[in-house]
Amino acid sequence: MQPKFVKVVEVGARDGLQNECSVSTQDKVSLINALAKAGVKHLEAGAFVSPKWVPQMADSSDVLGQIDKSELTTFSALTPNLKGAELAFNAGANEFAIFTAASEAFTQKNINCSIDESITRFQPVMDFAKQHNIPVRGYVSCVMGCPYDGAVSLDTVVKVTKKLLAMGCYEVSLGDTIGVGTPQSTEQLLNALLEQVSADKLAVHFHDTYGQALANVYTALNMGIKTVDSAVAGLGGCPYAAGASGNLATEDLIYMLNGLGIEHGIDLEMLAQAGWQISEALNKQPTSKVSLALKAK
Ligand code: HMG
Ligand code: MG
Repeated sequence: MQPKFVKVVEVGARDGLQNECSVSTQDKVSLINALAKAGVKHLEAGAFVSPKWVPQMADSSDVLGQIDKSELTTFSALTPNLKGAELAFNAGANEFAIFTAASEAFTQKNINCSIDESITRFQPVMDFAKQHNIPVRGYVSCVMGCPYDGAVSLDTVVKVTKKLLAMGCYEVSLGDTIGVGTPQSTEQLLNALLEQVSADKLAVHFHDTYGQALANVYTALNMGIKTVDSAVAGLGGCPYAAGASGNLATEDLIYMLNGLGIEHGIDLEMLAQAGWQISEALNKQPTSKVSLALKAK
């Protein structure tokens, strides 16, 4: 049941750095280039959101303009509306990501509209993407719980996921935004989804607030999930989910995949070096235990 190959979607340069105030454009460009050199093929490079809401991503056009591009690598960006999609396209993003949630309160705080309104706003993004042959990924946040509403209904997660797929997203990433899931709740979530959606259309995106992310990924792999989001050095958080920590560290994910004999195409040493490089720029240590262990050797 476990996959032979896992597609790793590296979100550190977006999810990781959207919470960090003083990262230079050059540091972001160096991070993305180092990750690509380490073999990462799917990189979220920025977010075309309102600079008033998330100023940390305001230089996304410059970042995308300055990185070493390769046709073999996906450089995606968050595009909440048509304006974001046009800016992302002009900057050279070759994949878009639209994002909503399974919680009304979070959707209002995050993107200033209801879940239904968010779907309506995404239609022009989908039309623009189709016109330009750009694949679109969907995100559903708060699949395991909401920082404002608490418990989230699995029915809503399934409904929103199916809406995103029906409107043309090639895959939907399930965001445990505040990192409250456990292997058991991951199993319940995926059981509910897999009754109606193929595993090939789903990705998992765990924040590691309670230290459960790796165990949750292992559970998901055993249930046939083949795409996992993670952030180098465990960078990350969400400006609209106070207390949410970083994503699962990519180094920890790769070490586990190596142990399971699952292919992924990424060089762990080079990845860890990329993580140390950005951590030094942020004046902190990676939260990845694997990265710390490799450094101590
Ligand atoms: P709004 O205020 O409702 O939008 O924001 P608006 O259309 O009324 O526009 C207001 C102003 O923003 C206008 O400027 C627009 O031009 C500008 P003004 O006239 O006041 O000068 N604007 C834009 N500027 C640049 N790019 C754009 C854009 N759109 C409007 N695309 C909006 C709605 C969605 C834009 C806003 O709420 C927003 O930007 N939110 C940011 C949300 C965000 O980035 N959250 C973090 C990422 S999601 C996440 O981390 C979760 C995830 O990792 C999964 C998980 O972990 O669960 C993906
Ligand atoms: Mg996230």
